[in-house]
Amino acid sequence: MKILFLNGPNLNLLGSREPEVYGRLSLAEIEAEVRKRAAERGVEVEFAQSNSEGVLVDLIQQARGRFDVIVFNPAGYTHTSVALRDAIAACGIPAIEIHLSNIHAREPFRRESLIAPVCCGQVLGFGAGSYVLGLEAAIMVAGHNRAGN
Ligand code: DQA
Repeated sequence: MKILFLNGPNLNLLGSREPEVYGRLSLAEIEAEVRKRAAERGVEVEFAQSNSEGVLVDLIQQARGRFDVIVFNPAGYTHTSVALRDAIAACGIPAIEIHLSNIHAREPFRRESLIAPVCCGQVLGFGAGSYVLGLEAAIMVAGHNRAGN
């Protein structure tokens, strides 16, 4: 089983970016924790990050046939990107949307996700824990897919 963790704009700045909202761990530190847990669970993970919407669309298209599940933090594009929503819908790979912060407890413009309706579900509000829980959700979703239910 292979899981792609895809990260949108400004998540390369985690650790120094608004730590009171997003925590003090860098994306590399979060990746290391997820890799450790993935190894324990016997699954493969790959991490990618881009600040560019088009690059994220390319990465989703290229994931076809290579990954069983996408765990996606679309960051600011969550609230604006029809192109990323269409890419997830088109790729046929089950996706889980994740966020470090609880987007429903923040500014009103963050409450809407254009991506959520084409995902299996969301994990949000647990800081770096959202990535760990996203891994568990991905394993569950891939298992369900294989079992055909
Ligand atoms: C975020 C929430 C988004 O609203 C914001 O634009 C981000 C990070 C999160 O993980 O909490 O960049 O996706």
